[in-house]
Amino acid sequence: MKINEKRLLADLTALREFTDTPGKGVTRFSYGAQDQRAREYLFGEANQLGCSIKVDALKNVRIMMPQNMEGRKRVVMGSHIDTVRNGGWLDGIYGVTSGLEVLRTLKDAELGKNLELVIFAEEEGSNFGSTMTGSKFISGIYTEPDLEKLKTDKGITLKEILQNPPPEAIAQVPWDFSQIEAMLELHIEQGPVLEQEGLPLGIVDTIFGMKVMEVELSGTGNHAGASPMEGRRDALCAAAECIVAAESLVKPHGRAVATAGKISIRPDCSNVIPESALFTIEVRDREEETISRYMEQIKEEIRSICQRRGIGCQIRETSQSKPLALDRELIGKMDSLAQSRNIPAKIMDSGAVHDACMIAKHAKTGMIFVPSIGGRSHVPQENTREEHLLQGAQFLLELAADLTGAEENH
Ligand code: GLV
Ligand code: MN
Ligand code: MN
Repeated sequence: MKINEKRLLADLTALREFTDTPGKGVTRFSYGAQDQRAREYLFGEANQLGCSIKVDALKNVRIMMPQNMEGRKRVVMGSHIDTVRNGGWLDGIYGVTSGLEVLRTLKDAELGKNLELVIFAEEEGSNFGSTMTGSKFISGIYTEPDLEKLKTDKGITLKEILQNPPPEAIAQVPWDFSQIEAMLELHIEQGPVLEQEGLPLGIVDTIFGMKVMEVELSGTGNHAGASPMEGRRDALCAAAECIVAAESLVKPHGRAVATAGKISIRPDCSNVIPESALFTIEVRDREEETISRYMEQIKEEIRSICQRRGIGCQIRETSQSKPLALDRELIGKMDSLAQSRNIPAKIMDSGAVHDACMIAKHAKTGMIFVPSIGGRSHVPQENTREEHLLQGAQFLLELAADLTGAEENH
């Protein structure tokens, strides 16, 4: 059995166009117009297969094969279709289109029982600053009250964006995990390891955990020309010192990472000393203890910098996920499959988080990586060699066929 390579590449190419920033990477936030276009495209393809489509109150999607048998456990494949701002064309959508291609291939071969494709909503946290929002509701980490806590930069709540879904609809979002045989997420690596080692495939062992803090600094706004350097309370200078301090604290560790990816200042004018600065710092590692320790050290450092500079500071933790070891049995199965196909594969960690983390708490979950050119992702330059994309999707097909017993039942 073989995937239809042209069909998969055609999907990826078509979906690449659904962006708010043509020529500047893919910007496709969940719940926006481009997300809707991508959904319509994918639903159209799924309808042609005779699949049934279920969309929950968070707009997570389950696409079910018509041959699925009532009461039989399902193998679920999938990922997300949303992106960061000016992101790449493969992050998330590669796993979704490959899953779709697996459904089609198995349908063509009159197989594909007990198989589903899932599209998780709001994985990137582009709207609300919290990653994996859709899958956090699926796994019960987020519940009804979080609909009002999650807000965009403009203060619009998730509840408003979803047009006030009734509590009964939210209560339906968590999955019945007793019905899930396994969850498989195929994804680009987003880092340099596979390329550097010349390997076409990665099998994920542990997904890094992360914590995010939002820091709000308040100083005194004033005229940029008439105010002497001495005695200023410049919120942006304080923020800069805090961010560099976080970098210096975490860098020697060698594996843990800290990033300040978002900052805004007020009033944001070239001739006014910034009165306030709002920025995020996130810390990631494969050990929860390391993440917590650095978060605390960074907070302490921020408080002491602010005290020295006479700057007010408020720190809130806004999002977190724990490091997660994926299913050993599935890792072994994937490793054997790769060996039997003579595909050199590496068992490796994932520095990026994935919806798979949320599902892995409740069901057997596996993740497969393909190399990222130059290790780049979350940027318009994100790319993967065509042969690697195709090989990854073929691997997913064979794994899904194996796990659903498609080969034997035929
Ligand atoms: C999601 O892509 C993340 O790792 O932030
Ligand atoms: Mn992703
Ligand atoms: Mn991403």
